[in-house]
Amino acid sequence: MLNIALPKGRLGEKVYAMFEKAGYECPSIKENNRKLIFENEEKGVRYFWVKPSDVAIYVERGAADIGVAGKDILCEYEPDIYELLDLNMGKCRMCVAGKKDFYDDTDRTLKVATKFVNIASKYYASLSRDIDIIKLNGSIEIAPILGLSDVIVDIVETGTTLKENDLAVLETIMPISARLIANKVSFKFKTEEIERIAESLGTQVKNND
Ligand code: PRP
Repeated sequence: MLNIALPKGRLGEKVYAMFEKAGYECPSIKENNRKLIFENEEKGVRYFWVKPSDVAIYVERGAADIGVAGKDILCEYEPDIYELLDLNMGKCRMCVAGKKDFYDDTDRTLKVATKFVNIASKYYASLSRDIDIIKLNGSIEIAPILGLSDVIVDIVETGTTLKENDLAVLETIMPISARLIANKVSFKFKTEEIERIAESLGTQVKNND
């Protein structure tokens, strides 16, 4: 049985559709209920829905053999896993954002609010810029508006949240997309099964281009 961790939500549903197309369907997953684990014994797959930011933990610790996680999570937590494939979906950017007229006075320590402490720290270290990190867990956009921080480091997808809060992208740190990841031990012992799935998903990614 191959254990597959899917990110709960819209992205996860699209990802499941790709697995289904690859021949690993599990019809019970479409039932409208609150179940989190779905199995198709005949196909040898067990899917489970987890919080998107937790997929990498399940895979790193081997509770899942493979899973789909955003590049943002992989860069932030640096889990010890194999990254097998860029699924070219769930695309967005990691950005520095702030008030439109923000001016960076380099004589002062920059106050940065973010969920992505590691990504933000590395980015500013690469610029040799002193920062004071303020770790938040959501609604990051409020921080510069209320003066809690000078800027934020966060994900921008459509840009609507920034726009509706009178903020703007100041710098782009990196592009983000969903990745197929594998547990290292699982990959060693279930190489063929995992590679077969990765190959089939890869073909679909190419056809989507
Ligand atoms: C994410 C991110 C931004 C928003 C960007 O938040 O933190 O707030 O999406 O999307 P947009 O550019 O399309 O507007 P999420 O919905 O994950 O909620 P959060 O406030 O808990 O971070």
